[in-house]
Amino acid sequence: MNRAHTKNPELRAWIDEIAALCEPDTIHWCDGSDEEYDRLTNELVQAGTFRRLDPEQWPGCFAARSDPSDVARVEDRTYVCSISKKDAGPTNNWVHPREMKKTLKGLFEGCMRGRTMYVIPFSMGPLGSPIAQIGVELTDSPYVVVNMRIMTRMGSAVLDVLGDGPFVKCLHSVGAPLEPGQADVPWPCNPDTKYIVHYPEERSIVSYGSGYGGNALLGKKCFALRIASTMARNEGWLAEHMLILGAESPEGQRTYIAAAFPSACGKTNLAMLVPPKPFLDDGWKITTVGDDIAWIKPGPDGRLRAINPEAGFFGVAPGTNEHTNPNAMATIRRNTIFTNVAQTDDGDIWWEGLSDTPPAGLIDWRGEPWDPASGRPAAHPNARFTAPAAQCPSIDPAWEDPAGVPIHAFIFGGRRSTTVPLVLQAFNWNFGVYMAATMGSETTAAAFGEQGKVRRDPFAMLPFCGYHMADYFNHWLQIGRELAHPPKIFGVNWFRRDEQGHFLWPGFGENMRVLKWVLDRVHGHRPAVESALGRMPHYDDLDWRGLEGFTREQFNALMSIDRDDWKREVHSQDELFSELYDKLPKEFIFMRELLLSSLWRSPRYWGLAPERQ
Ligand code: OXD
Ligand code: MN
Repeated sequence: MNRAHTKNPELRAWIDEIAALCEPDTIHWCDGSDEEYDRLTNELVQAGTFRRLDPEQWPGCFAARSDPSDVARVEDRTYVCSISKKDAGPTNNWVHPREMKKTLKGLFEGCMRGRTMYVIPFSMGPLGSPIAQIGVELTDSPYVVVNMRIMTRMGSAVLDVLGDGPFVKCLHSVGAPLEPGQADVPWPCNPDTKYIVHYPEERSIVSYGSGYGGNALLGKKCFALRIASTMARNEGWLAEHMLILGAESPEGQRTYIAAAFPSACGKTNLAMLVPPKPFLDDGWKITTVGDDIAWIKPGPDGRLRAINPEAGFFGVAPGTNEHTNPNAMATIRRNTIFTNVAQTDDGDIWWEGLSDTPPAGLIDWRGEPWDPASGRPAAHPNARFTAPAAQCPSIDPAWEDPAGVPIHAFIFGGRRSTTVPLVLQAFNWNFGVYMAATMGSETTAAAFGEQGKVRRDPFAMLPFCGYHMADYFNHWLQIGRELAHPPKIFGVNWFRRDEQGHFLWPGFGENMRVLKWVLDRVHGHRPAVESALGRMPHYDDLDWRGLEGFTREQFNALMSIDRDDWKREVHSQDELFSELYDKLPKEFIFMRELLLSSLWRSPRYWGLAPERQ
């Protein structure tokens, strides 16, 4: 494929302009074919970026090691450059677009020297779906090309659908030009300078200096969340950091749930959940539509419909195993790219949690010999797999339906060792929005920075919302006002611990018990207990078959609401509210007061007594 493949005048002019600025040696138009993928992966093997894994154990799989400085999203280098600072809001880094463009122009001049510039036309969403959007990424990284091939629908078919239409401009460079005769390194990046920049009004993205994940695969966080969230606000839909799963009952009733959790809180595991045996025996089935991003639009029937705009999973490897996520294990067995896992000389790989005993002769993610006595992780905690969604055994039959799937419930969850109960249902849409907006979570390795601190992460969107977070809350409230059949909203916390630090809830497949209660509530089959925070299940409302050892007392500890903890929690929400004060929905002020007053009249320790309350 070449330039002649498109007559799109804007695309041609933009590519000419970028080629003149970046001065790549050559330009390659990606057609998305198998031959192209094979050729590029071979070249990556020759360059030392990829290792081909053992074809018996891991057919069609590769492992890459990044530069140790380039292992996660860089939130402090991520900018939303709207024309007005007020539109970006206080939680996004902002620089005026004129000034940012000047800085970036300086960095991009000649930045692709000695390299090939790849043109990647891609579709977020099934090709031609009315909910899908088209982007074109220009990049000097073949690693990005092969990952984009898995994560999106990409290649010449996209240009055919695009025609003369609009597209999102995504420009990416690793920021490491090669002087004539200079040898390349396996993982080129710029260790000193990184910029991940969004221009929401222009619908364009410019990324410099990093070759990793969300910084470089621009269809994902940059386009499908930051840019798409601004499109969604303007056009009356939602672009969310959510998995989408389907639940099929023994009677064949299918219910779809979209769920938001901050990065590295088990979204992929929940999306691919395998129910406990008694549920399977009854005929329950969980299917996967997506594990990270949902684009959701109101339909003419007054319900929301959602698509997964991605075509692959970019999942966290550590902790993934046959127990925590057998469907992910089956998905990543072939045609998968692993980044920053540990490797053996004979083409095997390993990460923390994969098995109890690591294989002998491991080389860690930095390329150093490793054994269990080394006292450091073998795989980077944010090591990733990039795998085609179509290979997932639990993939939903409608996952590529251009019309999307109907959403019946939203679930919001964070990682909280204390304070937040296992599950509750919001009293109504507005309370649900308030609950999601005030969600807190302990930080993880998916983003660079300190780990384990509680930060407010409204809707799990704090790092991904392309505009003022309080405008985003207002947008959610407005969607609720306009919907005839709004989904019910739930909150969950799989991560509560006891005083010794042990998890109180087994999680993983056992989360089906909580999902089942959610489904019962959606379909009006179960009563609920009213607490200050929302509606909750009683011990007897959950199906305990197969987990009979889990006692009423354990459950009540998981569900407990401590009045003083919650007063502190509500007051700590004020920090976020005062930051967003200029645009904060008035509803939130009233809901906060209602919450405080119900906590005030609750007993100090609001546990669930053995008898129904
Ligand atoms: C991701 C993230 O990569 O949220 O999905 O960081
Ligand atoms: Mn994510």
